Amino acid sequence: MRLRVVLPGHEHNAEITHGILARVGAHLAELGCRRSVAVVSDERVMAAHGEALRKSLSTANLEPIELLVPESEAGKSMAVASDLYCRLAELRFERNDFLIAFGGGAIGDLAGFVATTYKRGLRLVNVPTSLLAQVDSCLGGKNGVNLHDENNQSFAKNAVGTIHQPVGIYVDPTLPVTLPDEHYRSGLGEIAKSCAIAGGELLGRILAAAREMEAGRLTARAQLQIVRDCLTIKRNIVEKDEYDTGERRLLNFGHTFGHALEAHLGTMPHGLCIAVGMNVATKVSSNRGLCPPTTCTQLTGLLNALDLPTRVSADDAEAAIEYITMDKKWQDRRLHFVLIQRPGRLKIADDVTPEEVAQAAREVCRG
Ligand SMILES: NC(=O)c1ccc[n+]([C@@H]2O[C@H](COP(=O)([O-])OP(=O)(O)OC[C@H]3O[C@@H](n4cnc5c(N)ncnc54)[C@H](O)[C@@H]3O)[C@@H](O)[C@H]2O)c1
Ligand SMILES: [Zn+2]
Repeated sequence: MRLRVVLPGHEHNAEITHGILARVGAHLAELGCRRSVAVVSDERVMAAHGEALRKSLSTANLEPIELLVPESEAGKSMAVASDLYCRLAELRFERNDFLIAFGGGAIGDLAGFVATTYKRGLRLVNVPTSLLAQVDSCLGGKNGVNLHDENNQSFAKNAVGTIHQPVGIYVDPTLPVTLPDEHYRSGLGEIAKSCAIAGGELLGRILAAAREMEAGRLTARAQLQIVRDCLTIKRNIVEKDEYDTGERRLLNFGHTFGHALEAHLGTMPHGLCIAVGMNVATKVSSNRGLCPPTTCTQLTGLLNALDLPTRVSADDAEAAIEYITMDKKWQDRRLHFVLIQRPGRLKIADDVTPEEVAQAAREVCRG
C-alpha cells in the first residue's frame, strides 16, 4: 500500500508493505540518492535487521555509512546530535545527501532533528522498526531531543526540535517481530490512542484483532492492516494541520497525564504511560459530564483487550500529579487538554485545571 502525504510545498509517499525493506535501496535510487547514505541507528536494531538493510542498499549500488548511537532516550540528546553533526561534516555530507533513520521512535526523533538542522536540511528517509514508530512517529515530521542537566539527567523531554518532513517513509511490518515485549506493548498503546481518535470501524477491527492475539502479539495480517489504518488516520490529521496549531493536538489524547507518569517513572515505555493517561483523560471528561459512562467502559474495554495498563499505584499517581501541579506551564497559561465524548469524537479544551486532572487520576488509581 502506498499512502500519499500531501503538504503545502512538499509531497512524499509512505510505502507500507511486508518485505519493503529489501526494496528501500531501489526506492532511494529512484529518489536521486547516489553513492553513500548515512544510516542513523543503534546496535540492537542493526543486529536484528542491519544485514537486510545493507543488502537492500548494496543492490542499488548505495554504500551505507553507519552512525550508531545509544538506544532509546539516551540517544536523544544535544551531545549525541552534536557528535553526529561532526561525523557528517568529516564525511563531507552536503545538503542533498540522504540520511536514513533506521530504528524506533527515539532514533526517528534524533535522526530527524539532525537531518533538519545539519546544513539546514539533509534529505531524510524514515525506515521505522518498532511498532510505535510504524503506527505513529514515522509520519508527520516531528522530531526532537531531550535536554540534560550537568549530571546528564534528562529534565525536559522533546524540548528542542522541529517539524521537517521526510522524502520517503518505508514501513515493513515484519520488522517489529524482534522487538522486546514491553516495547511492542508500548506500540499497542499508541494504536489504542489512534483507535480512540478514529472510533467507528477501527474500534471494531482492533477489538477483533485483539481477540486473535497470541503471546501479546497481533497476527501478521492484522498488524499490517492496523499499521495502515493508524498511518492513514495520522496522515489525514497532519495534512489538515502540519504545524500543530489545531486538529493535530488531538493526537495528544492521554499525553498530559501520560507524560507526567513517564517523567516520574523514567522506565515505563511511552505507550504504556499513554494508556493510563487516556483512562485519566476519559475520567476528566466524564467528571465534566461530557461523556456518558459507556465511553469509560469502552475505553477501558479497549485497553484491557490489548492488555494495556489502565492505572498505576496510588503512590505513582500522586508523584505524577505532583509533576502536573508543580508544572509552571499550568500556572502561567492555559494548556490544551484533549477530552473525549466517545471514540471518534474528541475535543480540545483550554480550561482544564491541574486539580481536575489530579482528581481524575486519584479516582482511576485509587487502591
Ligand atoms: N515524533 C513523533 O511524532 C513521536 C510520536 C510518538 C513518540 N515519539 C517518540 O518515540 C520514542 C519511543 O519510540 P519507541 O517506542 O519506538 O521506543 P525506542 O525508540 O526507545 O525503542 C525501544 C527499543 O526497541 C529497540 N528496537 C527498535 N526496533 C527494534 C526491532 N525491530 N527489533 C529489536 N529491537 C528494536 C530499540 O533499540 C530500543 O532499545 C519516544 O522518544 C517518543 O518521544 C515521537
Ligand atoms: Zn505518543
